[in-house]
Parts: sequence; C-alpha cells; structure tokens
Amino acid sequence: MEYTDKVCEYFRNPKNMGRIENPDGVGTVGNKVCGDVMKIYIKVNDDIIEDIKFETFGCGAAIATSSVVTELAKGKKIEEALKISNKEVVDFLGGLPPIKKHCSLLAEDGLKAAINDYRDKQKNSAPSPIKSEDKQL
Ligand code: FES
Repeated sequence: MEYTDKVCEYFRNPKNMGRIENPDGVGTVGNKVCGDVMKIYIKVNDDIIEDIKFETFGCGAAIATSSVVTELAKGKKIEEALKISNKEVVDFLGGLPPIKKHCSLLAEDGLKAAINDYRDKQKNSAPSPIKSEDKQL
C-alpha cells in the first residue's frame, strides 16, 4: 500500500508544527525500533485544549499523523481528546500502509502523554490541605 494523497499533503504542509512556550503539558514519545521521536505541547484553558503544537523527528507518516492528532484535539475538552484513537487518525488520512501503523500510535500516545503531564502538574500545583502556617504551630 502506498501513502494516500492526504498523507503526502499533510507531510508537505503539516498544521500546528512548532512548539508552545510555557505549555501546560508536554508529551514526549519515541519508538525504539525506528528511533523516531514526537513531542506534543498543549495549552489548556478551562479544561479545553486551546492550543496544541508538535515537533516530530521522524518519518513522513509520523509527521502527518502528529499533524492530524493536533487538529483533532484542538478545541476539545480533555476528556474528549483522550478518546482520540490512532484508528481515528488513520481513517482521517484515508489509511496508512500496515508497516506505518506504529507511527499513528506514536501520535495517539504523544497526545495522551501531554495530557497526563498536564494532569500531573495540576495535581502538584493543587493547594495542600495543610497550610504552611499550621505546620509551624
Ligand atoms: Fe517510526 Fe514512522 S517509521 S514513526
């Protein structure tokens, strides 16, 4: 199976490529076999992914799938974005050669990693139930 026109188009003109300064979450994932690495940055406001960008050092399919995953996630609530599957990404692109399926998994995992990072940061920044003044008493 060859790449679809849509994959080639996204590879040539990816959307949301780049990085976000001071992101609310960053996910970095890689595939040990091919060595490709994908980084996804998110900016979250009121539980909605307001902005999302990616940096991918990898094959054409990895670039195309990262671009699609950012497009699908932008403007979505965190809960909804977590439901985006690699199948949805592949369907959007009109299919991928079977050997390239792991590239789309990288995109799904990258988004999830960015969301997990955001959630971890939220937890860590939550006010402690014990106030610092109390501790000193
Ligand atoms: Fe590994 Fe595409 S060949 S991400």
